[in-house]
Amino acid sequence: MTTQSNDRLKSFWMPFSSNRDFRKAPRMITGAKGHYYTSEDGRQIYDMFSGLWTTNVGHCHPKIVEAVQKQVAEMDYGITFQIGTPKTYEMAEKLCAMAPAPFKHAFFTNSGSESADTALKIALAYHRFNGAPTRTRLIGRERGYHGVNFGGLSVGGMGLNRNMFSANLIPGVDHIRHTFNLSENAFSRGMPRWGAHLADDLQRLCDLHGSQNIAAVIVEPVGGSTGILPPPEGYLQRLRDICTANGILLIFDEVITAFGRIGSSFGAERFGVMPDIITTAKGLTNGVIPMGAVLVREEIYETFMSASPTSIEFFHGYTYSGHPVAAAAAMASLAVYEEEGIFEQARELEGHFENVLHSVADHDKVKDVRNFGLMGAIELHGREGAAGARGYEVHKRCFWDENLLVRNGGDIIQFSPFLNSNKDDLTRGIESVTRAIDAIE
Ligand SMILES: Cc1ncc(COP(=O)(O)O)c(C=O)c1O
Repeated sequence: MTTQSNDRLKSFWMPFSSNRDFRKAPRMITGAKGHYYTSEDGRQIYDMFSGLWTTNVGHCHPKIVEAVQKQVAEMDYGITFQIGTPKTYEMAEKLCAMAPAPFKHAFFTNSGSESADTALKIALAYHRFNGAPTRTRLIGRERGYHGVNFGGLSVGGMGLNRNMFSANLIPGVDHIRHTFNLSENAFSRGMPRWGAHLADDLQRLCDLHGSQNIAAVIVEPVGGSTGILPPPEGYLQRLRDICTANGILLIFDEVITAFGRIGSSFGAERFGVMPDIITTAKGLTNGVIPMGAVLVREEIYETFMSASPTSIEFFHGYTYSGHPVAAAAAMASLAVYEEEGIFEQARELEGHFENVLHSVADHDKVKDVRNFGLMGAIELHGREGAAGARGYEVHKRCFWDENLLVRNGGDIIQFSPFLNSNKDDLTRGIESVTRAIDAIE
């Protein structure tokens, strides 16, 4: 794509991007296979973000591609309002079988944002059906990310995403404190030791608002988009205990942490802490077709089935809920995860990933390094008067000079390697990032 033609690039308004800067030197990818993208100028770019936390087993896995091709030729679309297609039911069954024992029902969406909003609506409706109509307040966490729709945005806690819409966010929402604390937890490997007591902030909100008015609390088990914030040891269990004691539903947003990203089928499994609702998307289909799912405990589903006064139990759903081609992609992805022992591979890679990531800890531009499972972050000191510039420059340098794709959120370089990565590729990836950090101002 030449500079003269770059005006043509205005037709696509890029999401979460510097559109104007991008057009000056477009970073275009034209193909994807295995662990690599192909750039428009013919280079193989190693993808150290596995799509966008999506592509757990690499791009164009032949079994997933085949399943999608077959399905699209057989049934391209199937309405799911008042009509069913057996394959979506089979996939739901497989998904629930992979989930921790209490989760036996899945509501399908098309994205993580829709999963978050769906989960919040399920929580509110559940309390109504369950004879607790005053439970309407929703609690999120500072620095949380639950997508960009109004529900998820409102419980989310990332300032730049919210500020523009501050007056229009949904009412009745509050936030507990985030768990980031550099003076206590800098350069933690895995879960920080300090900070379990931060969960008690939920008790403060119970005392403030009256727990009988609180419907649900939503948190990511490991903060992702905010720049990798693993939970302090004991923190999630403490949140669980406070929720249980106060009759509040606990929602884990597992859009990133489900399907092996932290070395087990779900984060709930890994941490041994069971929420009441789990949201997923991304790795559900290995990123091949958009799809999300909200998993609920038996009791929640049964409450809808037994207490709804209307024949339609839940006035909610999407045109593409349970789309057959997405369902085929999900079915094949879940099968690949099992057959190839992907979650075990991810678990095995953790130690190496942690070591190579922390090899940059002494760099004078590095402020913090954090990791859990195959989620990692290198946080840079911001350049005076230009917050975020260093991170973005590292991203660009890696793409042009190192044939490497990493993502930056401001000055935080984020990593989401493939669950079946080669160790040497991870080592080389971090060496590339180190050179890029060296090279920038
Ligand atoms: C934890 C979490 N929830 C929700 C979302 C939103 O997902 P989507 O972009 O598919 O709407 C994301 C996306 O990164 C996420 O990480």
